[in-house]
Amino acid sequence: MTSAGGANPGFARGRRLRSTPALRRLTAQTRLSPADLVLPVFVKEGLDSPQPIGSMPGVVQHTQDSLRKAAHEAAEAGISGLILFGIPADKDPLGTQADAADGVVNVALQQLRADLGDELVLMADLCLCEYTDHGHCGVVTPAGVVDNDPTLDRYAAVALAQAQAGAHVIAPSGMMDGQVAAIRRALDGGGYTELPVLAYAAKYASCFYGPFREAAEGAPQFGDRSTYQMDPPNADEALREVAQDLAEGADAVMVKPALAYLDIIARVADEVRVPVSAYQVSGEYAMVEAAAAHGWVDRERAILETLTAIRRAGAGSVLTYWAVEAARLLRR
Ligand code: PBG
Repeated sequence: MTSAGGANPGFARGRRLRSTPALRRLTAQTRLSPADLVLPVFVKEGLDSPQPIGSMPGVVQHTQDSLRKAAHEAAEAGISGLILFGIPADKDPLGTQADAADGVVNVALQQLRADLGDELVLMADLCLCEYTDHGHCGVVTPAGVVDNDPTLDRYAAVALAQAQAGAHVIAPSGMMDGQVAAIRRALDGGGYTELPVLAYAAKYASCFYGPFREAAEGAPQFGDRSTYQMDPPNADEALREVAQDLAEGADAVMVKPALAYLDIIARVADEVRVPVSAYQVSGEYAMVEAAAAHGWVDRERAILETLTAIRRAGAGSVLTYWAVEAARLLRR
């Protein structure tokens, strides 16, 4: 045995291929490019100016106008898409603003589609938690339990409204059983047979959604989401959820969160032959921003290292609040 290959000329030494930036670039196994990135955006009804989100420094709740500007910047930066979340002025038990033609997200979709055509992929997150007064992802029974099947009817109506408004992709995130099938049926019935569904297939009940609930004003008013979102210790179940969504007609699947679930991303990517996305969620963003604000990690390196890790695990695309900034860093 020779140590680290020193005496043996044939021994592959890692250092040989690391000696210059150009060599490292040439031999990098994982590449990250602006086209891999999708920016989640929040648009709130009734705002006069964009509102900062305390737990997500640098992220805002947009007005319709500031969203249009941000969308142009995103296209300019070369990212592939946006995923839209809306916060209505009025919430009710059924989340009726989610499928109102003049609901905040549907108006935003219409405007962005008119502004940008097909330049960016406009993804519509499909869930009710931003729209219901109780903050759950579906309709609830008088006993306060999220009622799966009546929720599917609501999701079908929302999918159609988002399709009509101009979404390029419908992305259901509510984790109801049968949601992909219900949405596929509704879209096909409405003539939207070509509109793809990106299923949030493996979505865990995670503490890392904390800041999002401030951003989207969708925190549950009672209970939590642990009956419909996945339990963090489970891995095989993610494969079952993914298989189920594909059987129901999903065109692509997502794993969420990303950093604490890289093993799940890797297993899903090994298993399926459809595009796999990962969502670097609000809490992942907040952790890095908070540490960087203290000078405890190098912010730009942390952004690129975490995104690279998510790609290395097997995600083809990443939803991240840093999408535009990361795209600019990558082009520099
Ligand atoms: C809605 C939804 C959530 C997120 C995306 N869609 C919140 C939740 O499930 O509570 C979280 C995104 C993030 O934290 O960045 N169901």
